Amino acid sequence: MVTRRTFLHTAAAAGGTVLAAFRDDGLRRLSAASPAADGMDAAAVAADEDYWREIQQAFTLDRTVINLNNGGCCPSPRVVHEALKRYLDISNQAPVYHMWQILEPNIESVRRRLAAGFGCDPEEMAITRNASEALQIAQLGLDLRAGDEVLTTNQDYGRMLDTWEQRVRRDRIKLTKISFPVPPKSMGELSDRLLAAITPATRVLHFCHITNLTGQIFPVKAICEEARRRGIRTIVDGAHAFAHFPFTVKDLGCDFYGTSLHKWLLAPIGTGFLYVRREHLEKLWPLTPAAEKRTSDIRKFEEIGTHPAANHNAIAEALTFHEGIGVERKAARLRYLRDRWARRLAEHPRIRLHTNLDPAHSCAIGTVQAVAVPTPKVVEQLWAKWRIIATPIVHAEYEGVRVTPNVYTTLEEVDTFAAAMEEIAKKG
Ligand SMILES: Cc1ncc(COP(=O)(O)O)c(C=O)c1O
Repeated sequence: MVTRRTFLHTAAAAGGTVLAAFRDDGLRRLSAASPAADGMDAAAVAADEDYWREIQQAFTLDRTVINLNNGGCCPSPRVVHEALKRYLDISNQAPVYHMWQILEPNIESVRRRLAAGFGCDPEEMAITRNASEALQIAQLGLDLRAGDEVLTTNQDYGRMLDTWEQRVRRDRIKLTKISFPVPPKSMGELSDRLLAAITPATRVLHFCHITNLTGQIFPVKAICEEARRRGIRTIVDGAHAFAHFPFTVKDLGCDFYGTSLHKWLLAPIGTGFLYVRREHLEKLWPLTPAAEKRTSDIRKFEEIGTHPAANHNAIAEALTFHEGIGVERKAARLRYLRDRWARRLAEHPRIRLHTNLDPAHSCAIGTVQAVAVPTPKVVEQLWAKWRIIATPIVHAEYEGVRVTPNVYTTLEEVDTFAAAMEEIAKKG
């Protein structure tokens, strides 16, 4: 087990100290100090409260509330927020010069680093304002004819389903939504259901990398490989996946991928990216039209008119913070926090878990139901009595409270949630 003492000792040996690395904007130096924890088992670091206490202090939070809705959008660490404010201040000096000429060109550094993290060519990476915009570029930018079918699930994100429904009304395409159990028996069940629903008219498969409703991870590669074999395009909704658990695009094999960066990367609110497999770039129409000469340029998807450079440039600082922790260590900690409440509640006779705790199936996100109490009432009580923020999930086929901790969440906060659920389940 890594203790604070051994951690600091190794860090000092590596030429820095962990405390210096974590203090205020010294977090930027976390990368340099992180050899301290390199080579340590991620599971051991996940349980080292000394390590995570330093991370908890890197945020400017309101600790009078217990925020277990990090699936919506997340607070940024102080260094990221400071970078955002700094870039806004610089922009405001003379935006046409400082923002357009000094800051805006640096978006290329962000593109390069995001592409390195995702494992694609920078020329396949467009920076967007969120996952919705990224996914809608793919959804609305593909040429589809009346009668062409899009296959998705009834647990995909509402806005993305609304986007397809609009194409149904406007372009007369066909939309098919399959159902799947929560939790499923196996990964194979998910791919089998989706692939079995393919018809000769299917042109696009659209599904989540990890669902927002129960945190179910999909067997993306198995689905994408088969779709590709059959000439069907794949759009993967990765709103919750990037910087949450380790993977690269090579593990996915999809054609299009959209994610938010204001969720698990902890970048400023209003950031996301779209990956477009290079062979599809030319044929995909941008959401906001661009000049014809940009047809083969990934930047055509960023022709959105005047916008702040601060948001997308501060992604660089969020990447540095994220890389300093390391995605393996982060995922291990998130699973550690999730397991702490979920394994305790799973034993309760009046509580049902809708998330499979196998690490292949899930990570930070878990959904849990107090069976005798309507979910909106549970969420109301969590807030009224314990000041816990959690999300009610009420789906046609199941319901429960969605719980999403983050790297700044403490054990005390997670334990308070578990105890609150036990009390609610008992008293109703
Ligand atoms: C699965 C899924 N897709 C897409 C989105 C849209 O993300 P954003 O609001 O960042 O555009 C969300 C948001 O929560 C989501 O959960």
